[in-house]
Amino acid sequence: MTREEFTVLRDFIYEKTGIYFTETKTYLLESRLANRLNELGLSSFEDYYYHLKYGAEKARTELANLFDVVTTNETSFFRNPPQLDAFKIILQKSYMNGSGPVAPLRIWSAACSTGEEPYTLAIILMELMEARKVNIPFTIFATDISSKVIDSARKAVFSQYSVRNTDAALKRKYFTEENNMFRLNDTVKRAVKIDFMNLMDDTAYRMYRQMDFIFCRNVLIYFDEKMKKKVIDNMYECMKPKGYLTIGHAESLHNISRAFKPLVFPGTIAYQKG
Ligand SMILES: C[S@@+](CC[C@H](N)C(=O)[O-])C[C@H]1O[C@@H](n2cnc3c(N)ncnc32)[C@H](O)[C@@H]1O
Repeated sequence: MTREEFTVLRDFIYEKTGIYFTETKTYLLESRLANRLNELGLSSFEDYYYHLKYGAEKARTELANLFDVVTTNETSFFRNPPQLDAFKIILQKSYMNGSGPVAPLRIWSAACSTGEEPYTLAIILMELMEARKVNIPFTIFATDISSKVIDSARKAVFSQYSVRNTDAALKRKYFTEENNMFRLNDTVKRAVKIDFMNLMDDTAYRMYRQMDFIFCRNVLIYFDEKMKKKVIDNMYECMKPKGYLTIGHAESLHNISRAFKPLVFPGTIAYQKG
């Protein structure tokens, strides 16, 4: 990949997804796009760029393939337990104490990848409601830009690796084991509404209003500061007053937004709409 090819493709990917490949990632981008060139029978990255940018109908389909290959989809059930413990604490204190909000709970897992995050949240909520003998209606919205991971999330069949941090009793209760794979039970699947949503698209946020919780974990790291600000400002608008935002444990709102109040929990921080 020449420097010019890298630059035009990097800018194109940034414009469409907000994902910013720095020059040190040239090789990574080249190896991820190489398969696309092969499959389309194109002989240069420049041709691929022109195909994406000016191609007709087929190029639109190719955008979906591009989103699949430029995204990193690492995830697992019960990832980063301190953040999930904070979620439990907030639920018990503010939503299950008898005086909490009566409207159905709305939770959004933005950038949900193959679904482990939203399904984990559903299991946590179901377990808490059962333990406290309460019934709170809730919907979990789960979105991603990659059609491939969305399909996989909808199938909800997971590898041993995906459930490696899941408690054995929860595995027995919520999954059916088949040939070393774990099929999620329908009750949990039904609680999660999975859709395509591009965080770059300002108009798409309209579908995700009045959220009590937003989990936007481990995706901001792929964005530059301008895109991080845009995403977080949009998310602010999507939350109920005093709603809670959780970002990745290695991510920060420093220099991004002052609109949230940081709340300290053991081993983690959650952000509350101020
Ligand atoms: C590393 S995964 C994080 C999954 C999950 N949130 C977690 O923390 O385990 C990042 C996800 O962000 C998605 N993503 C990247 N850019 C996006 C965008 N512009 N809009 C929506 N999703 C995006 C990727 O497709 C990928 O599935």
